[in-house]
Amino acid sequence: MNKNTRIKLNDGLTMPVVALGVWQSHEGTKNAVLTALKNGYRHIDTAAVYHNEKDVGEAIKESGIPRNEIFVTTKLWNDDVRSGNTREALKKSLENLGLDYVDLYLIHWPAEGYLEMEKLQKEGLTRSIGVSNFRKSHLQNLLSKVHIVPSINQIETNPQMVDEETIQYCKENKIGVEAWSPLGSGACLNNPKIQEIANKYQKSSAQIILRWLLQKGIVILPKSVHENRIKENIDLFNFVLENEDVELINQLNQHKRTVPDPDNFDF
Ligand code: A2P
Repeated sequence: MNKNTRIKLNDGLTMPVVALGVWQSHEGTKNAVLTALKNGYRHIDTAAVYHNEKDVGEAIKESGIPRNEIFVTTKLWNDDVRSGNTREALKKSLENLGLDYVDLYLIHWPAEGYLEMEKLQKEGLTRSIGVSNFRKSHLQNLLSKVHIVPSINQIETNPQMVDEETIQYCKENKIGVEAWSPLGSGACLNNPKIQEIANKYQKSSAQIILRWLLQKGIVILPKSVHENRIKENIDLFNFVLENEDVELINQLNQHKRTVPDPDNFDF
């Protein structure tokens, strides 16, 4: 595994295992994306509701890197699903990004609307389609209705929040898993156990957590607007966590979410 390593999705597409996440990046977004691309990232994860697709698009253009070398994900917001504006929403995202297609389009929170996404994939507006924040029960319901199994489920996953049941279900159904807030929005970095393991490997806490996720076969989307951290968060391929350390981090799970549970959200 190295920073160019890609995982194969169930539709045949491949995706780099490390992405730059831009949730809560705000005015730092363009610079962060440019910095990431300069430092070897080839996967950027945004969403309509982050209101920074334009900055992401400008950075991609300014980087000079060919479009087909960068994997771009965006997401369909809840209001657009509910009002049946799925197609219009993707068109708007593409306009904001300045792109003809995205690589992956996700339903941001559990909702109907997936069948419309299947059409958008056929039209070539998105190469792959998937979901986000779906728990096992949402996926079971979805799979009973769809023609195309989602390629990805992007869920909150970090040392204090692991939904093993959903991850296992995704594995069984060949749905790739991506971790949003892999660092627990920063909350996991000061955990004494993580710091102890970081000392052992002479790595930062962030690197230990990100490497732990990669070794579990999970794609990571760390967010940072700082160059040193952006570099650090993809510098994960010159060490391997021993199984006993993977297990120690597994034991930190508290099922503690930083946002509402996907079964009980009101936005
Ligand atoms: P910043 O953007 O100011 O660098 P997550 O990806 O889990 O949502 O975590 C993002 C949070 O963690 C942000 O507050 C980000 O801050 C911080 N962060 C990201 N990478 C690192 C790192 N390598 N070391 C310390 N903090 C980090």
